[in-house]
Amino acid sequence: MTSPTDFNDRMLSLGLARVSEAAAHASARLIGRGDEKAADQAAVNAMRDQLNMLDIKGVVVIGEGERDEAPMLYIGEEVGTGNGPAVDIALDPLEGTTLTAKDMPNALTVIAMAQRGTLLHAPDVYMDKLAIGPGYPKDVVSLEMTPTERVLALAAAGGVKPEDITCCILERPRHEDLIAEVRETGAAIRLITDGDVAGVIHCAEAEITGIDMYMGSGGAPEGVLAASALKCMGGQMWGKLLFRNDDERGRAAKAGITNLDKIYARDELVTGDVIFAATGVTNGSIVQGVKREPNFIETETILMRSKTGSVRRMIYRNPIK
Ligand code: FBP
Repeated sequence: MTSPTDFNDRMLSLGLARVSEAAAHASARLIGRGDEKAADQAAVNAMRDQLNMLDIKGVVVIGEGERDEAPMLYIGEEVGTGNGPAVDIALDPLEGTTLTAKDMPNALTVIAMAQRGTLLHAPDVYMDKLAIGPGYPKDVVSLEMTPTERVLALAAAGGVKPEDITCCILERPRHEDLIAEVRETGAAIRLITDGDVAGVIHCAEAEITGIDMYMGSGGAPEGVLAASALKCMGGQMWGKLLFRNDDERGRAAKAGITNLDKIYARDELVTGDVIFAATGVTNGSIVQGVKREPNFIETETILMRSKTGSVRRMIYRNPIK
C-alpha cells in the first residue's frame, strides 16, 4: 500500500540520478577553462532538459534565482511532463562554479525532490549553518552556542579531545573571528574555498572525510540542499537566515517567511521524505569527478532516499559518439 506521503520516490530516484549525471556531463568540457558562467549554463540547460522528461508535476522551489534574473530553472518554474506526483524540486546545477572553472576539488551537480510543500522556500540570502554527522545525541550542539562551546560539546559527546575534532569552514573574511576562535580550542579546520553543500555532506562520512562538524554562513538555498542530503545519510543540521538589508528581507517575505529569526532544524528545512542526487564534476571526497577517456565519459553519482536511508554510488559510462 502506498502511504499518503509517497511521491513515487523509489522509481523517481533513478530519474533524478540521470538529471544530475546529465548536468555533470554537460559542464565537463568547461572544467578548468576559467569560465564560470559557461560551465553553469551548460549544467542548467542539461538539467532542465532531463528534468522535463520525468513524469512529475514539479515546481522549482530552490533554483537559479528569481524569474526576472534567471531565464531557466527559476524559482516557481514548472518542470516535468505534468503527469505524476506533485513535487518540490531544489537544485543547484553546478555547486561550485569557481571550483569548476579553476579545476579545484568538490564541484558537484545537485538536485533534491520531495512531496509538494515540504522543502523550505529559502530565499537567496545567507544562512548561518551548523551540521554534524550521525551518532551524536540530539541537539548536542546548537547555533546558539559559541563556536568554542560547540567544539567542547562535540568532543565530550564523542569521548575525544577538542584537538581530535575537525571543523569545515568556508574561507571568507567574514569568518575570520570564527576561524580564530575555533583554532583557540585546539580543533583543526578544513578550510574550503567554495562548495558548502559538499562541506556539510562531509560530516555524514566523518570516518572517510575526517570532518566532524560544519559551521559558518553560506547560501541559504545550498542549506536546504545540504539538509536534504543529511536527512538521507543521517546527521543533524541547523540553519538561520541572515539578512543584510531590506531587499533581502523582502525576498523572505516573497517566499512566505514571516519569522526572520527562526532557527530551522534539519527536519524544518525538509519536512517530509526526500530523494537526493549529486554527481561529481571535479574530483572530490564524496564522489569522483567526470572522467573523459578517448571513447567514453564516466561519472560517479551519489543517490539517496531518506525513507530508507539508502545511499548508492553509481558509476555511469557513456560512449562518446
Ligand atoms: P556557486 O557555485 O554559485 O559559485 O556557489 C558556491 C558557494 O561556495 C556555495 O557553496 C556557498 O553556499 C556560497 O557559494 C557562499 O557564498 P559566498 O561566496 O558569497 O561566500
